[in-house]
Amino acid sequence: MNFTELAAERYSARSYSDRPIEQEKIDAVLHAAMLAPTAKNNQPQKIYVVRSEEKRRMLSENCRCIFGAPVVFVLGYDTDRVAHGIRKENDEFGETDVAIVCTHMMLKATELGLGSCCVGMFSEEIIRACLDIPGNVNITLLLPVGYPDAGPSVRHTEFRDSSEIVQYL
Ligand SMILES: Cc1cc2nc3c(=O)[nH]c(=O)nc-3n(C[C@H](O)[C@H](O)[C@H](O)COP(=O)(O)O)c2cc1C
Repeated sequence: MNFTELAAERYSARSYSDRPIEQEKIDAVLHAAMLAPTAKNNQPQKIYVVRSEEKRRMLSENCRCIFGAPVVFVLGYDTDRVAHGIRKENDEFGETDVAIVCTHMMLKATELGLGSCCVGMFSEEIIRACLDIPGNVNITLLLPVGYPDAGPSVRHTEFRDSSEIVQYL
């Protein structure tokens, strides 16, 4: 698969089979996360690999977008390590760093035949309490991953016209 084919192949998987993910595939997805660029190369990302049944159940009880995935990566960044910008007051790049990390992970998962779904609909406070995540880590995204047992939703193929998005200046 070339890059464009890989990007087109990825979709938000919202239903997973019970098949566990091989450790080599988890390692490969984590390696892709480490290759992501971060502002000033500060590498503030924190990645929690949630795969115990107990913790996944706790996540599912507190977030409706876990979708029965066998592994949930909880992605955040260390506020003590994050790079700061000058674009506006109190500017920091943590969410941007994590979004790029998450993209690397989703694309690697796709290459390995796994499904994933970037999830932002959760209470940071509740997820922090469930997993006992320290206060210096901002929890940014959840990434359920597993072998999908359903295809993409209709939204996957809805694209705005590029003329609405791209502007040559
Ligand atoms: C920052 C972000 C947050 C998202 N949060 C959720 C979510 O909480 N639940 C969910 O089911 N999908 C979530 N999605 C997935 C989007 O709905 C999805 O990417 C979009 O509808 C396009 O579909 P596709 O990923 O299948 O191409 C999120 C995506 C992004 C980038």
